[in-house]
Amino acid sequence: MPSPDFTTTFPFTWQFSDDLRDGERQSTYADAEKLCKGPEPVPDWVVTERAAVDTYLGVLKTGKEADCLLMERAVPGGRGCVLAAKQYRGEEHRLFHRDAEYTDGRRTKGSRDARAIQKKTAYGRAVAAGQWAWSEWEALKRFWSAGVPVPYPVQIDGTEILMEFVEHDGEAAPRLAQTRPSRALLETYFAQLRDAVMLLAAHGIAHGDLSPYNVLAAGERLVVIDLPQVVDLVANPAGPEFLMRDCHNVCTWFQRRGLEVDEHALFADALSQIY
Ligand SMILES: Nc1ncnc2c1ncn2[C@@H]1O[C@H](COP(=O)(O)OP(=O)(O)OP(=O)(O)O)[C@@H](O)[C@H]1O
Ligand SMILES: [Mg+2]
Repeated sequence: MPSPDFTTTFPFTWQFSDDLRDGERQSTYADAEKLCKGPEPVPDWVVTERAAVDTYLGVLKTGKEADCLLMERAVPGGRGCVLAAKQYRGEEHRLFHRDAEYTDGRRTKGSRDARAIQKKTAYGRAVAAGQWAWSEWEALKRFWSAGVPVPYPVQIDGTEILMEFVEHDGEAAPRLAQTRPSRALLETYFAQLRDAVMLLAAHGIAHGDLSPYNVLAAGERLVVIDLPQVVDLVANPAGPEFLMRDCHNVCTWFQRRGLEVDEHALFADALSQIY
């Protein structure tokens, strides 16, 4: 008798998808690789359950290279959390404002990838988007573990990073640039940013694009975001220049708000942390 062209033993995988509505997807957290999940200990508020469902709630902001969306991850009928989903774009209209200077001292694995990125082929753009996402993911984990105030990195999935949603009074926290803090708050804000710059320098890195646009003000607490271009202060010959620019951007804003701060002093103090 010819053998049947089907098998009677097949793996049974549990599918929740019948119950999912438009815009919902099964959470991929439980099955994600360890390297693609945030550092331990995982904060209690992070929903890690296999039964969780992800729902995009809307767009927070479309940026030059990525879009930030708001996402809910919740167990049906159970607990949930709200996350910020930063999705790097790989398509044509993406603007590459972060250029080669930043990546000096980093290696691109595989020359085929390097050539494709250079030629900006569709494949190259996808690789570049993935690399920026991975670079920001690594930086978020590193900053978080070093005690720098950044959103907790929950998960990376291809070109999408899921992280703690920084909010204040139930709304997305404003960028520092949009705020008009009192004198006392200005002082504590500056102290927080100063500590962050020092801590990073002590780890041999600079943010690389630090400005009041890449810092969120969650009430009295500042949170640093947007880290794909973190710069190695030792391996990258332009490292100190980037650090100086970070110090300049931060200090200029505080000076305009009436706080006497000195970018050169901040730069010198940061440099002295390196060795
Ligand atoms: N974790 C977060 N919590 C709350 N809001 C966030 C978070 N991450 C990003 N945002 C919002 O999305 C905006 C863009 O994020 P980000 O700076 O990381 O991306 P970008 O591509 O550099 O965008 P842009 O070009 O506008 O700087 C932020 O200014 C902020 O308003
Ligand atoms: Mg930004």
